[in-house]
Amino acid sequence: MLLEIKDLTVAYGGAKALDNLNLGVDQGEFVVLLGANGAGKTTTLRAISGLLKPVHGHILFDGKDLLKTQSFRRSELGIAHVPEGRQIFPDHTVAENLQLGGYTARKDLAKSNAALEEIFQLFPRLAERRDQKGGTLSGGEAQMLAVGRALMGQPRLLMLDEPSLGLAPRLVIEMFGYLKRLHKEKGLTILLVEQQARLALQISQRGYVLERGVVAISGTSESLKDDPAVVAAYLGHAG
Ligand SMILES: Nc1ncnc2c1ncn2[C@@H]1O[C@H](COP(=O)(O)OP(=O)(O)OP(=O)(O)O)[C@@H](O)[C@H]1O
Ligand SMILES: [Mg+2]
Repeated sequence: MLLEIKDLTVAYGGAKALDNLNLGVDQGEFVVLLGANGAGKTTTLRAISGLLKPVHGHILFDGKDLLKTQSFRRSELGIAHVPEGRQIFPDHTVAENLQLGGYTARKDLAKSNAALEEIFQLFPRLAERRDQKGGTLSGGEAQMLAVGRALMGQPRLLMLDEPSLGLAPRLVIEMFGYLKRLHKEKGLTILLVEQQARLALQISQRGYVLERGVVAISGTSESLKDDPAVVAAYLGHAG
């Protein structure tokens, strides 16, 4: 397993948001984390990035104990986190936003430029707007920029927190198409938090359903699509 979470408990004050959570993501895998509002999905990603300190448990990345690794070191190890909501720099251009995301960027300009061109190839919409200010992008473009920025560091694990939030259905499908390509063509390992369960199960390989901080159901995305409990709670009538 590239990422392994063992018996992870996280609490806000006295209230447990994660309660002995166990999950894993293999190298090259595309895993989705589903669950209702408040289930603990964002908390899980924040604990992996080091933005929250667990009460107990373990998070291993490539065998390394992340809880002994500072947050900024975790991004150096290759963990990229696109948070809920799009945190881009409104007064910087698209190209500048991307350059600011590349960790290697500051070290190696040639490498940074190559990474930048690769992002522009993946997201032609960003290429067209490379000199436009981040703050003037549409919601969908801003979300692409947030993903592009995470990719600039050439991560080994890309974590995304509801990238579909607030996007029109057509843009959600476009965004998911990009994620699928990143996985298929670049072999990127992805941990996706989503409420758009049906679509997320179409592009991922495996999934976990969180309920009140524990894994309620897990399995291949194919099997989750047909699981009566998943269908009832997350996929609705059309199945
Ligand atoms: N900063 C905080 N202080 C107190 N409680 C919090 C805090 N952040 C989250 N919680 C609580 O922890 C639980 C899990 O929240 P979390 O944000 O991880 O859920 P989520 O699955 O991402 O939900 P959503 O789908 O709504 O984004 C919720 O009950 C939430 O109210
Ligand atoms: Mg959340």
